[in-house]
Amino acid sequence: MGKLVLGIAVGCAVMSCVIAGVMVGRRIRSRRRWWNVVTTVEEFKETTETSVERLRQVVDAMVVEMHAGLASEGGSKLKMLLTFVEKLPDGSENGIYYALHVGGTNFRILRIQLGGQRSILAHDVDRKPIPQILMTSTSEEFFDFIALSLKEFIERKGDNLQLSHDRGKDLGFTFSFPVKQTSVSSGTLIKWTKGFAIEDMVEKDVVECLQKALSRRGLDMNVAALVNDSVGTLAVGHFLDNDTVAAVVIGTGTNACYIERADAVIKCQGLLTTSGGMVINMEWGNFWSSHLPRTSYDIDLDAESQNPNDQGFEKMISGMYLGDIVRRVIHRLSLESDVFGPLSSKLSTRFVLSTPLMAAIHEDDSSDLSQVAKILEETLDIHDVPLKVRKIMVKVCDVVTRRAARLVAAGIVGILKKISRDGTGGISSGRNKGYKSGKMRRTVVAVEGGLYTSYTIFREYLNEAVAEILGEEIAPYVILKTMEDGSGIGAAMLAAANSARNVDTVQVL
Ligand code: BGC
Repeated sequence: MGKLVLGIAVGCAVMSCVIAGVMVGRRIRSRRRWWNVVTTVEEFKETTETSVERLRQVVDAMVVEMHAGLASEGGSKLKMLLTFVEKLPDGSENGIYYALHVGGTNFRILRIQLGGQRSILAHDVDRKPIPQILMTSTSEEFFDFIALSLKEFIERKGDNLQLSHDRGKDLGFTFSFPVKQTSVSSGTLIKWTKGFAIEDMVEKDVVECLQKALSRRGLDMNVAALVNDSVGTLAVGHFLDNDTVAAVVIGTGTNACYIERADAVIKCQGLLTTSGGMVINMEWGNFWSSHLPRTSYDIDLDAESQNPNDQGFEKMISGMYLGDIVRRVIHRLSLESDVFGPLSSKLSTRFVLSTPLMAAIHEDDSSDLSQVAKILEETLDIHDVPLKVRKIMVKVCDVVTRRAARLVAAGIVGILKKISRDGTGGISSGRNKGYKSGKMRRTVVAVEGGLYTSYTIFREYLNEAVAEILGEEIAPYVILKTMEDGSGIGAAMLAAANSARNVDTVQVL
């Protein structure tokens, strides 16, 4: 009997040891997995590092590429496209103008009434999502949709059209893709970006396609200006503030433009001799430099995209891609550990995590990160993750957004450096030494796009990095101004500026 009791006791003790051993083993394994997750995130953070030294290298690389792109056609990945915009609105324009804006997920139609003295008396906008199917259809179907939408808009809101003599018939067209312009109101599409792929459109004249579609719908309107969204943003920026010299768009895609001296556009010397300056559409989404902090996630994203080896800067910065970089990191973490629970198939779906959702995760300020939990559940099919895992999610968003915002800041300072507005006198320009010669001028950069206007942390990181790169003496002279709907309004203003009826009311650059 005694032996039996002893046996049971020994058995129990052994059992307890085994259970304890299993539990300790599990805990060690779980700690190790957690450690792996933390290490992977830390490594990701290190590879995306954007110290001010590195950002300054990006600034210089941007300046070098700008020079190369201006020197010869194909001289750089930066196309540095001529816009033929030699006149920017100065606030004195008046009349009713329409604008169409095609470029991101939404299509916009605008009607504005300008009243002179920098005033916008009325401003009507309609936003419509572009049906996915049209983004890969034919040019005729695509432009028919645009013309029909404009017709409906005029029927609904354009009741003053007849009252406004002919002025209401001038139209500005913001087309936010790389276009080789042949005049301020004509140009051919070079390539699609941002998921659009209407093959028969490439190399076609964009305005001709629109003008034909307008005629098919019986709309007697004149496309007076074809502009990139960055150029539209610059136009409205300049309309509101004459010190505006550059504009940046950070939305679904990204781009920048600025006012360049005509004699700096070496690739077109002959063409531009009579003009003092011209707006240059940089198409900076395609910028590339070995100084950009690229990760394996960026490489994979690019390889699986519709346009591999293209738009490299855009793929690190813009709204179309940021959410997907986060998704890729979370996918990797889920493959390496079980901290996100069983592997969710949603994590292999490209673009399932949009950038607005990523921003919502990043900006969740609830104590238990309930918004993060909700998005994980509803969008990624990941359930019941503990708080520390939700925090990891926020951290990944932070790393991705911080890098993007700081790279945009470097791009902006690159432009300022090129035109000697960064306080250093520029890389090669002997003239206008800016701050050093006591000439530092107030410099405004107009900024449009949801990442800047609606994603507060992104905006803060960007502003902070611009100030960091410029230094505290120069930074106060550089002002970034938000332009809501700027690109569309700007196109209408450029239609006004280039309208035969308004030739006296514009400012020559
Ligand atoms: C296009 C640019 C455009 C930018 C912002 C890029 O993908 O190439 O033309 O300005 O997106 O919309």
